[in-house]
Amino acid sequence: MMNPVNPKDLSFFKSNPAFCIRDINKRDYSSRKKFYLYTEDQRYFLKFVGNDIAKNVAELYVKIMQHQQLNRHFPQLMANEEGWLIYQYINGQQLVKYFLKRFYKGSFGETLKIIYSIGNFLSIYHKAFIQDLIPARDFLKPYLIKLNLPSENEELSDKVPIVKTYNDFTMRNILITKSKEFFCIDIDAAFHPQFPHYTMPYHDISITILNILSLAIVPPFFSKKIKKTTSEFLTGYFHNNSEITYSKYLLETFMQLHYNEFFMDRKINTIYAGNKYILFRKMLKKSITQCKFGFLPSNDFLLTPSHNK
Ligand SMILES: Nc1ncnc2c1ncn2[C@@H]1O[C@H](COP(=O)(O)OP(=O)(O)O)[C@@H](O)[C@H]1O
Ligand SMILES: [Mg+2]
Repeated sequence: MMNPVNPKDLSFFKSNPAFCIRDINKRDYSSRKKFYLYTEDQRYFLKFVGNDIAKNVAELYVKIMQHQQLNRHFPQLMANEEGWLIYQYINGQQLVKYFLKRFYKGSFGETLKIIYSIGNFLSIYHKAFIQDLIPARDFLKPYLIKLNLPSENEELSDKVPIVKTYNDFTMRNILITKSKEFFCIDIDAAFHPQFPHYTMPYHDISITILNILSLAIVPPFFSKKIKKTTSEFLTGYFHNNSEITYSKYLLETFMQLHYNEFFMDRKINTIYAGNKYILFRKMLKKSITQCKFGFLPSNDFLLTPSHNK
């Protein structure tokens, strides 16, 4: 990737000079440069992603901004310049931190409401960007063969939409404000060369489910709450969703594909070295086994959200 210019030199900041800049790359394995930048009366979040990805994000943003149910959940994109994305600064907390606090004590009902809205949001995002409708088999067969899994199954004939992926729709990429509004960030992952750009919605759904299940490695172990959280996310996604129907089989299959690192931007062992890698694999395996034993609802679960019961 080319070398970025100093963000203070971007023409966006010519008329409104930045007096304070904070590097937020510290303690981060990602090589993308990220800054908070302060001007007299504004704060911004800047991320260097290179010209190609920046252009794609800006094009996607045009469509997102026209969509009333989507646009209020994204920070505004103020500019795309020299491979830098300049975003509105969101004063919020990563959802994972918010969650963990509430997992320990109190207000779990509120947590479920938020996860329901987030599931619903992802389904609206997918429905806004449906590209095609194909039998699941057409997409999955090569992977099933590689994994030695049966490539004949009734559900493989069902037509499933191909949608624009988010690729990293996880709790660390959702910011939640004091007034409980949520904002989705890190959308540039949707265009990284090693991730798919269009695929079945189950790709994104299983990434979020694995992310929720990964809370299981944080002690003490709240299996019941984790189970409720995954169900609520799925209910939020599939409740009132006529375009994309719930299939436990497809969800489990995609989780297997993730476990086998088919759609990663880099191998897991380059992120987590040595012992951490072994722990991470164990955690994933445990999560997937737990799914098999009922972490995922059966196909007739479509219901009233549990926070309303
Ligand atoms: N618009 C924003 N406003 C405020 N903070 C942000 C914004 N976007 C991202 N951040 C902060 O920067 C962190 C890294 O940003 P992100 O785009 O997720 O990069 P990465 O690719 O490293 O995950 C986020 O976890 C969040 O804390
Ligand atoms: Mg992120």
